[in-house]
Amino acid sequence: MTADAHPGPVSGGPTGRPDVCLPHAGRRDVGAPGTRVSDPASPSADLPGAGALGPSPPHAGSSYTQAPDPGLPHPGQPDVGAPNTDVPDAGPSPGASARPRIRYALPSVTDLEAAYVADALKTGWGARCYEYLTRFEAAFSARLGVSRCLATSSCTGAMHLGLAALGLGPGDEVVLADANWIASVAPAVHLGAHPVFVDVDPQTWCIDADAVAAAIGPRTRAIVAVHLYGNLCDMDRLLALGQQHGIPVIEDAAEAIGSVYHGRPAGSMGRFGVFSFHGTKTMTTGEGGMLVTDDPELYERAVVLANHGRATSQLAQFRPQRVGFKFRMANLQAAMGLAQLERLDELVAAKRRVFKAYAAGLSGLPLQMNPEPEATTNGYWMPTVILDPQVARSGAQLLATLDQEGVDGRPFFPPLSSLPMFAPVPGNRHSYDLAARGLNLPSYHDLSPQDIARVCQVVRRALAVA
Ligand SMILES: Cc1ncc(COP(=O)(O)O)c(C=O)c1O
Repeated sequence: MTADAHPGPVSGGPTGRPDVCLPHAGRRDVGAPGTRVSDPASPSADLPGAGALGPSPPHAGSSYTQAPDPGLPHPGQPDVGAPNTDVPDAGPSPGASARPRIRYALPSVTDLEAAYVADALKTGWGARCYEYLTRFEAAFSARLGVSRCLATSSCTGAMHLGLAALGLGPGDEVVLADANWIASVAPAVHLGAHPVFVDVDPQTWCIDADAVAAAIGPRTRAIVAVHLYGNLCDMDRLLALGQQHGIPVIEDAAEAIGSVYHGRPAGSMGRFGVFSFHGTKTMTTGEGGMLVTDDPELYERAVVLANHGRATSQLAQFRPQRVGFKFRMANLQAAMGLAQLERLDELVAAKRRVFKAYAAGLSGLPLQMNPEPEATTNGYWMPTVILDPQVARSGAQLLATLDQEGVDGRPFFPPLSSLPMFAPVPGNRHSYDLAARGLNLPSYHDLSPQDIARVCQVVRRALAVA
């Protein structure tokens, strides 16, 4: 049997068939707290020349190659870089077109990622076909301080699995913020549930706990707390509400790796949390996601669902017990993920450096940027500008100016209730207002101080002529 056949549990288990890939790496107890990537007992400790970490790891952080322009279309990306129309403007500054375009997102890729992926490519098959996946999940568990992690093909898939494992279905309601990307709500809709869009807090841009309290009803089955752009939801209040009403709080931490709330990492506080490793994110596997939880039963249900409905205890091949999904991450991607995770402190520090440079460069202007309330750390995935109400220029107009000057930005997420498939909720005024006045600035890890200064100059000039 070849690795790619992976039809299901193997009679006799892995010890009976050492040459056969386990049907699901997640079924091992990968999430044991405290597992370390560099643990010499890790199954990969024998990788050539790598000590416990992998194949001859080069100097982490050394530059591997000039990151290519990924052309990464993602949330809002259809609009990214596209000129906005209807914009009065002072016109591009002299020489603007001669300068290289500043992209809004690029991954940070070093020799470490290249080495791990090359090793997975050469060795990660047959009996070792889940090795990097297992290591990635264990290392992520240790990093988050949760007992269970399941690597998935996307964050959307992780959310789908988690909600399905909760038993969400037709007739159920899910409460979430209106100011959000579609990925946060699409899985609930696919499962037949009804989304209830509530407004956001104008300071955090995340779900307003008072609005959640008012929206909870007899059919509410989940509260989805999305940590937007790295900003943090008021988790104490949301968790208290969830406990009071017996409703699970789900954390969508797709954009919030590196953010910390009162000592607890974003994504680790709810019944389950999900992360995205899309190419635009702080850490990436190209595409990919992670479901994290401390609930062993929910985790087991998610593992079964992620693996075409095959229970871990079921040994017969090709005999799923239920119709499931196929949402697993590839071992090759996990190799990249493991390298990125080992560099996570560096990646988050780079994001924070970029944000702070913007905050200094734009200080004194009539705008608000991502908040970082006391006792929290913002991972600052996307430095975001909200123009003050008195500014006679919309976020779209400022985006168009940036575009003319060779700078990519992104619009603030339009309210989900403004999309054609949902009923409008104009009462969510902060969600609509932030979308009108907000935009994201370029923020990849290696953005130079000169480029940040160039972006700040464009913003300053635009606000001066507005
Ligand atoms: C808040 C939020 N949730 C979910 C997702 C979905 O992530 P993925 O593209 O990995 O499915 C994204 C993607 O950007 C996101 O921003």
